[in-house]
Amino acid sequence: MAARAVLEAIERFEGEENLKGFLDELSQGCTSLKYAYIGPAAFTHDELAKRDGYKSNVDATSVESRLLARFGIPDRVEIGPGNALHSLQVFDELPAAHRPRRTLLLDFSQALLSLCLARMIARGVPELSQAQWDFESGPTSAVREWRDSLAQPLLAMVIGHTLGNPADVLSVLRNIGHSLEPADRLLVSIALRTDVDPLPNYRTPEFFMAATEPFRMIGLGLEPSRLQLAIGPSGSVLAHVDLTASEIALIEDVFGVMARSRVRCFESRRLFAELGRDVADDRSHAGFVFVRGDR
Ligand SMILES: C[S@@+](CC[C@H](N)C(=O)[O-])C[C@H]1O[C@@H](n2cnc3c(N)ncnc32)[C@H](O)[C@@H]1O
Repeated sequence: MAARAVLEAIERFEGEENLKGFLDELSQGCTSLKYAYIGPAAFTHDELAKRDGYKSNVDATSVESRLLARFGIPDRVEIGPGNALHSLQVFDELPAAHRPRRTLLLDFSQALLSLCLARMIARGVPELSQAQWDFESGPTSAVREWRDSLAQPLLAMVIGHTLGNPADVLSVLRNIGHSLEPADRLLVSIALRTDVDPLPNYRTPEFFMAATEPFRMIGLGLEPSRLQLAIGPSGSVLAHVDLTASEIALIEDVFGVMARSRVRCFESRRLFAELGRDVADDRSHAGFVFVRGDR
């Protein structure tokens, strides 16, 4: 029974290494959001990403398309493209001359890469390639291998508040910078801190399902209502789950791991609004442009 449960969990986690990574983090009481995008969780994320509350957190398409047009770089690397709908909306708002020529999709989630690729092909996005990459683990050689020539800069984009979630955002930016060339450009869009209470956007069945999906993927029959939301001292949106004694015993029995009783499974950082005014910083390895992510 236990062996079968482990095999099923390995499949859901897109491989043994991911399952081990998640279990290891459970024992430390803080899990990475990247596990909430893989395997079956990709489709739960897809449901979430179609909702208005989610879209209002990431909606900066008019600024994003304006900046893409301003850069005028036809070769694009999209990091964390999710379910593709946000990017497709940005492309729709671009004048035809600024649509992408070649696109490389990079994501931790193989399932989301497949979903994104299928949607982009269906919408006629030309010359698509994809590669799996965990941007928290180090730089990737996939961009170098994919680029046409070093003489042509490319435009990398990380949109939709993707950089608001990793535990160490500076090391992720470093990994991205080291995967690009100095002449490349990077467009980052993030949600900013505002006076509006962010929690109502998260109090939805779709968010609860998405944030707790990895727990169901290891076989816990966790009801979404078990997720607790809070605002952290620096204004972050935080979410955690309190595991019961029998759930902790089940995890130990099946996976041989001692989980913490309180597990934080979500953090969404908000930067201060003053950082969000189209700041182009050319001193960095690649040019960073931060775009307002709120409205
Ligand atoms: C918040 S979603 C944003 C998706 C999309 N850009 C949008 O605006 O809707 C985060 C995206 O980053 C990907 N992602 C999360 N953690 C990652 C990691 N460590 N390495 C690579 N991709 C990651 C997720 O799979 C997902 O596609």
